[in-house]
Amino acid sequence: MADSPATSSDIAASAPWAALTDHAAELKPQHLRELFAVDPSRGESMRFTVGSSDRAIDFDYAKQRLTSETVGLLADLADHVDLRGRIAAMMSGAVVNPTEGRPALHTALRAPSDAVIEVDGVNVVPAVHDVLARLGAFAERVRSGAWLGFTGKPVRHVINVGIGGSDLGPAMAYQALAHVADPSLDMHFVSNVDGADVAGTLAVCDPEQTLVIVASKSFGTIETLTNAQSCREWLLAALGDEAAVANHFVAVSTNAERVAAFGIDTDNMFGFWDWVGGRYSVDSAIGLSLMLAIGPPAFADFLAGFRAMDEHYRDAPWAENMPALMGLIGIWYRNFFDFGTQAVLPYSDRLARFPAYLQQLDMESNGKSTTLDGRVVSVETGPIVWGEPGTNGQHAFYQLIHQGTTIIPSDFIGFARPVADPGGRHHDQLMANFFAQTEALAFGRTAAEVAAEGVAAELVPHKAFGGNRPSSTILGVELSPHTLGMLIAAYEHKVFTQAVVWGVNPFDQWGVELGKVLATAITAELEASAADFADGASLPHDSSTNALIRRYRELR
Ligand code: F6P
Repeated sequence: MADSPATSSDIAASAPWAALTDHAAELKPQHLRELFAVDPSRGESMRFTVGSSDRAIDFDYAKQRLTSETVGLLADLADHVDLRGRIAAMMSGAVVNPTEGRPALHTALRAPSDAVIEVDGVNVVPAVHDVLARLGAFAERVRSGAWLGFTGKPVRHVINVGIGGSDLGPAMAYQALAHVADPSLDMHFVSNVDGADVAGTLAVCDPEQTLVIVASKSFGTIETLTNAQSCREWLLAALGDEAAVANHFVAVSTNAERVAAFGIDTDNMFGFWDWVGGRYSVDSAIGLSLMLAIGPPAFADFLAGFRAMDEHYRDAPWAENMPALMGLIGIWYRNFFDFGTQAVLPYSDRLARFPAYLQQLDMESNGKSTTLDGRVVSVETGPIVWGEPGTNGQHAFYQLIHQGTTIIPSDFIGFARPVADPGGRHHDQLMANFFAQTEALAFGRTAAEVAAEGVAAELVPHKAFGGNRPSSTILGVELSPHTLGMLIAAYEHKVFTQAVVWGVNPFDQWGVELGKVLATAITAELEASAADFADGASLPHDSSTNALIRRYRELR
């Protein structure tokens, strides 16, 4: 089914945009202190729960610089761009990625087995569940020790070799869910083409007991192929027989031909489809390393979490729709307040890689300047997304969030229950900081309050906090596979919401191509022998790049 963008007109010229512009002018001078004074109930009215019991996530946006009127106007904007229709189009397999001529059906990866979602007239759900069943059977064999290495030993080390979406999702989720992972399997993630990455990993693995997963949608990514080749050479150097590759290498890819050309038996390949974007693929076969670590039932729960958020996004009214509100609040700041960045601050050490994961999800999706109908965008698009876990960040960059000249809307993510309990006072202290930070950011401390504490007059301006720094609070019951699936899906849909409003395609990534083409050419220039480089004076680049290449060749 072909699909055309819902809006081809300039969003900045629309009536809802004009209404939001006027409303922003009224709201900008107002402090969160005033908003809370005028409506003390906003702490209750601007929060809701998605899911129930142990699987619930609360979303609190009371400390955002908005009112219920703002939410109404943002909902009008969502309706103006037919967000509901665009969600339906995406989830039903319409071609929502027109520059690559395909759907973006990550939601089909977590659809129930009786769902019907058609691409080119074929229901893709049975194929999704077939792959899941194959992955599950393989994972059980590895986890139980039935899958043996070439010398007859069970697997103890798993190395996922991939990059971008073929690395960040599984690496982030494995770390997040380490408390439910099988401790007898050591998981490693190799991504960087810097040889230090793979060398460091191979140094701690035993080739007889190592399984390498080469994860690449295209199976053409140079970093991944270079790292996979190093793993292969390491294995063969130790085991001395090409036949060992079959016991120690599996592939996850959409490209069977290239997998076979690399020397991996396609019987040991787990497939997915071109309608799964790399940064939307952790819930596809790309999640194999995660499934090996946490087991197929927990992986099924992970998928159920995504599905719960998909259904919520599809069905909930905008004012109680977590991903839609996250996206619309982001639009509010990006376009009407000119705030250029968005911090994600998990109060969970296990979510240390979550901001990095979201960087790819958000910035590769919405880092766009061209609309779906080929015009230059007339409004700002994707924000810079960044963050680190609390409380560590508090002792590093929070100073700027509190008192710097740049306002940074922040998502605080925390959990009611800890994943580890070493005794002592850890979790309540962690969460006390979590609540304290959003309160301090919103309300600050006035000069009068500081002076009343007896602070010396000359220090009062330094110790006063302006406040009015916005944040959302996302409070889960516990960091389980299900909750993590919900969280990831919430951000996927947040990104989609924004893309629909901005009229950009969040599913392509042409901006990464030029660097790849240039790097291929430069690799040949770096690898050329001294004799072949004799004409190095005529390098084809600009004078800066030419000089740097020559200098590198001299120095190395
Ligand atoms: O270069 C960017 C990118 O294409 C990402 O979108 C993708 O996640 C990553 O490279 C890895 O791609 P692949 O899975 O095809 O190796």
